[in-house]
Amino acid sequence: MWKTDFKMRNIEGKTAFITGGTKGIGYGIAEALLNEGINVALTSRSQKAASEAANKLNQRAKNAVALGLQADVRSYEDQQKAVTATLEKFGQIDFVIANAGLGHFASIEEMTLEQWHETIDTNLTGAFYTLKSTLNELKKNQGYYITISSLAGTNFFKNGSAYNASKFGLTGFTQAAMLDLRAHGIKTTTIMPGSVSTYFNNNTPNPEDAWKIQIEDIGQMVVSLLKLPQRTLPSKIEVRPTTPA
Ligand SMILES: NC(=O)c1ccc[n+]([C@@H]2O[C@H](COP(=O)([O-])OP(=O)(O)OC[C@H]3O[C@@H](n4cnc5c(N)ncnc54)[C@H](OP(=O)(O)O)[C@@H]3O)[C@@H](O)[C@H]2O)c1
Repeated sequence: MWKTDFKMRNIEGKTAFITGGTKGIGYGIAEALLNEGINVALTSRSQKAASEAANKLNQRAKNAVALGLQADVRSYEDQQKAVTATLEKFGQIDFVIANAGLGHFASIEEMTLEQWHETIDTNLTGAFYTLKSTLNELKKNQGYYITISSLAGTNFFKNGSAYNASKFGLTGFTQAAMLDLRAHGIKTTTIMPGSVSTYFNNNTPNPEDAWKIQIEDIGQMVVSLLKLPQRTLPSKIEVRPTTPA
């Protein structure tokens, strides 16, 4: 019988660029990748928060290094500067995780213009800027581009107009980008989580969050994706708590 070899990709020594890595899902992904020997550049709106997160991660990382950078995803110039700083430090970018995001939840009557624009500019345009600024590296290294969308990117709900619009947009953007990028051997996946225990929407992780997806679970999911053979691409993944509260 005809059979090819099953061989996991070796990801040790690669470099990842993660937007919004100071806490929550981005931090969980950074920690999981560092444990695999992948260097990580993580971004934040604040240099102080980025440096603190990188220092904390570096205390535990053994074979890889975290670098904290100020870069607001709403600014294309910030993204370009962060990419340059990452290349100066690590020399390459193989994996890009467009994770930075936030949510404003209100009726159309109560949603302000500022809240609308902040949601769309961060969650949707930010992912485009992140891809655009790292595209050369992804092409050079046959890299991997992952976005963190949401189940809100396929299910709509009351008071969700801005968030739903941003995440439905992000799901569509990532799937269309996938068709462009695979021509260059670049893999693209959008991960669409349900409730994850993070600081999102003024939550603070606490024992009552035990039923939710945990950040290390998403971290492991990303590691598994990166290790899959080059030939196979899970392009859109819905992930939810097994037993909702
Ligand atoms: N938690 C959930 O249940 C859930 C479910 C589905 C999808 N998601 C998505 O997961 C992603 C991460 O959210 P999270 O739950 O981990 O929330 P979180 O704990 O609040 O973390 C959000 C991260 O995004 C960063 N960020 C926000 N705006 C930014 C900007 N303009 N530029 C750069 N970084 C920015 C924050 O960094 P600074 O504050 O340091 O700038 C922080 O590191 C978001 O896209 C969210 O929509 C979350």
